[in-house]
Formats: sequence, structure tokens, C-alpha cells
Amino acid sequence: MKKLVLAFAVSCFFTSAAYAEIHTIGRGEHLRFDPSSYPADMKRNNEVFRLHCTKCHSEQRVVMAYLTGTLSYSRQPFDMDSLQRVIFSMYRKTSGNGALMIPRAHMKNISAYMKHLMMESSR
Ligand code: HEC
Repeated sequence: MKKLVLAFAVSCFFTSAAYAEIHTIGRGEHLRFDPSSYPADMKRNNEVFRLHCTKCHSEQRVVMAYLTGTLSYSRQPFDMDSLQRVIFSMYRKTSGNGALMIPRAHMKNISAYMKHLMMESSR
């Protein structure tokens, strides 16, 4: 019986560790996504994301939204429903804003990347 309980506890631990997994590197202000285990297309998307999405705030801010599942500024959930709204609002902040402007093609990469992470974090 003890063994069974232990096996159950261990399997729960591994199950929860395998799900809800956003890999990160660095700490504090330098916290960022760890792309080392991503497939090639997501590695590329991560680069496009970093290029455009760390100009006004740090990458840490985006990582924390995934880790906490909350948008800190509005205290609203950060999930599949709000994701598209957040991406669009970031796009709007940058459009017509000179050097911050994000080409549409790059928005596709960023969108795919953010969705991929959301699936990774909530499976
Ligand atoms: C023009 C500056 C600017 C750029 C560029 C920018 N953001 Fe933001 N971002 C903000 C501001 C300001 C906030 C705070 C909330 C608000 O005012 O809407 C924010 C908040 C966020 C949040 C919520 C974090 C939280 O919990 O507070 C996420 C997620 C986010 N941005 C993702 C992105 C992504 C993805 C990109 C690239 C497409 C991006 N940002 C590019 C200005 C920017």
C-alpha cells in the first residue's frame, strides 16, 4: 500500500511538472524564456519576439504573465482568451511609432510564438 501511495505521489509530481512548463533562464530583470528545447521554427519566432517585444518592457514582464497566468496591470487572467487582445494592444502601441513599428509578417511569428507558449503552459 505504501508503495502504491508513493507511486501515485511520484506520478502526480511528474505529471504536473511535465505540464505547465515554461522553461526560463536568468533571474530578476534578466529572466527570459529558454528556447534551447524549442523546435527550429519556435526558435526563430523567439528571436522575432525578442527583437520587438523587449523595447518598452523587459522580457521578464512577459515571462511573469505566463508563470502567474495574470496580467499584472489589469489583474485579469492571461489565458487563450485574453492573449489575442494583449498581442493586438501591443501591436497598436507600436504602429505608427517609428522605430518601434512591427512589420505584419513579424506579428505572425510573434503570435504563433505566444500561442505556442500558452499551450505549453496550460496543457
Ligand atoms: C510601445 C511599447 C511596447 C512594446 C513595443 C511592447 N509592449 Fe507590451 N506592454 C507595454 C505597456 C505600456 C504595458 C503595460 C500594460 C498596458 O499599458 O497596456 C505592456 C504590457 C505587456 C504585457 C502584460 C504584462 C503584465 O502582466 O503586466 C504583455 C504580456 C506584453 N506587454 C507583451 C508584449 C509583446 C508580446 C510585445 C511584442 C509584440 C510587446 N509587449 C511589445 C508596452 C509595450
